[in-house]
Formats: sequence, C-alpha cells, structure tokens
Amino acid sequence: MPEADDHADKSFFPEIPTRAEPFFVKGAGAYDWGMQNRLARIFRPASGRTVMLAFDHGYFQGPTSWLERLDLNIVPLAPHADALMLTRGALRSTIPPTYGGGIVMRASGGPSILKDLSNERVALDLEDAARMNVHAVAVQVFVGGEHETQSVENMTRLVDAGYRYGIPVLGVTAVGRELTRDARYLGLATRICAELGAQFVKTYYVEEGFERVTAGCPVPVVMAGGKKQPELDALRMAYRAMQEGAAGVDMGRNIFQSEAPAAMIQAVGRIVHEDASPEDAYELFREVARETALA
Ligand code: R5P
Repeated sequence: MPEADDHADKSFFPEIPTRAEPFFVKGAGAYDWGMQNRLARIFRPASGRTVMLAFDHGYFQGPTSWLERLDLNIVPLAPHADALMLTRGALRSTIPPTYGGGIVMRASGGPSILKDLSNERVALDLEDAARMNVHAVAVQVFVGGEHETQSVENMTRLVDAGYRYGIPVLGVTAVGRELTRDARYLGLATRICAELGAQFVKTYYVEEGFERVTAGCPVPVVMAGGKKQPELDALRMAYRAMQEGAAGVDMGRNIFQSEAPAAMIQAVGRIVHEDASPEDAYELFREVARETALA
C-alpha cells in the first residue's frame, strides 16, 4: 500500500501556461499521437528532415548489384540513416532488433521485373507492420499507368488500415517508361497521393519547377534517388531538392553503389540536415572515403 500523499505545498506553477507546441511535420498537426510519434522517428525533430536509405529493390528485382549481402552492404550504413526503407523479409532476416532508427516498410508488390510492374497488390498486413514496430509503410502509386486505379486503391486501403494502427503511409510516385517525368506530372501524382491520404510522398527531382511540386503538396515530399550518378552530381541534386522544398531524401543506389557508401550517406546527411553546399559535402565525402580506405 503506498503511503498517503499529504504534502501540503504541491507545485502546480499556475503562472506558467502549459506548453502547446505545433507538431513539426508538414500537414501532420491533426494526427493522433502514435502517428505523430512514428513520423518523428523518420523526420529528425531538430531539422524536420530525413535521410532515408532505400534498399527494398529486391522485392521486384531480386539480388540487385551491391545488395547481394544486406548484412555486409547495408547494416554498417544503418547508423548514418534516419530511416531504412526495406521489405519485411530484409528486416526480419538481417536488421538487428537493437536498431534504433526509423523503419519504412515496403507494403506493395507482386510483379517482378519480368512483368508489368504497375500490377501491384497490397503485400503487407498492417497488423504485422505493427508487430514489427514499423514507423511507416510505402506503396507505389502508378498515376497514368495501366493499373492506376488498382495502385491508388492499394494506397487508400493502407491509409485506412494505417489510421487503425497509427502507422503513416508513404506514397511513392512510380513513373512508367511511357510517361514524361516533369513537374506537371509529378505535381499531379504527388498531390493525388496526399489528397487520398498519404502522410508523406516520395518523388523524383526535376530541374524545372520542383519547387511547385513541393509547394503544391500539403504533406512532406521526400526526393527519390534514382539511377547511380557520379557522387558530386547526386549531391548537387539532393542540395537543389532541399533548397526547393523537399523534406528529405530517400536514396538507394546513389548511396549503396557509391565507391564509398558510408562516406556518401554522411555527405548526403550534411546537405539534408545542415544545408551544406554540394561542394562542402563532397569534401566530406572524400575525407571520410580516404579515412575508411586507410582504416
Ligand atoms: C522503387 O520505386 C523502390 O522504392 C526502389 O526499390 C527504391 O526505393 C529506389 O531507390 P533508388 O532509386 O534511390 O535506388
């Protein structure tokens, strides 16, 4: 039995108003605590931004180059990422349960690289996502693609389930070969994802009008990495995206296929969280790459 609390001078500080701080993630002020808490595991509260490391490629193309061994290629990079974007198979088989960063899990799939990639279905039950403690689920949306409606429905079903569990959904705008990847198209696709409930959206960078894409999307836009480019070019792209309103990056090949992946992810982080110039970030890349080679 606890002793009686008969302290006469309790400290309620009536002169100090209770703090009510707005939640820092764009468009997320009205979500429930669990969903906000999960978003705060992906977006770093100090900068409001995120560096996500994407290595979910195996879900449609098997053992992608430089992802042959996730334990060797990816696990050492994990401490430098704010969040990992991966499949549940990769998480359970390879990621140590002591990992403390964000987990964004691929929740759509079906066709392999040998078939029409837009013909995806929901590939993850959110009860299992909750069991694995994931912080968001990701789904491809093929606006203008042959299976547009089906992929949008995949997303909206996940959004509904996500609200039941407090798990946010990342809408990934997938651009088929037949579509023009420009600001008009990406503005359309990102806005559709947000309007239909995605709590954040991943899309490609475009040189013309990217700031209109980010401004026209009421939730955070995270820049997709895309094909491997020379390191300085990839850093320039990340820098421009951040200056033009992106809330972070979700990069795969430009990090894990780099000649020095640990150096590259740190250089990207310098741009995303500290607004470093691409040249300064590249200097950091070279320095860390040199040190790693000597170690
Ligand atoms: C595709 O759309 C997937 O999400 C990819 O597997 C991955 O996220 C792409 O990453 P990156 O293009 O940066 O290699």
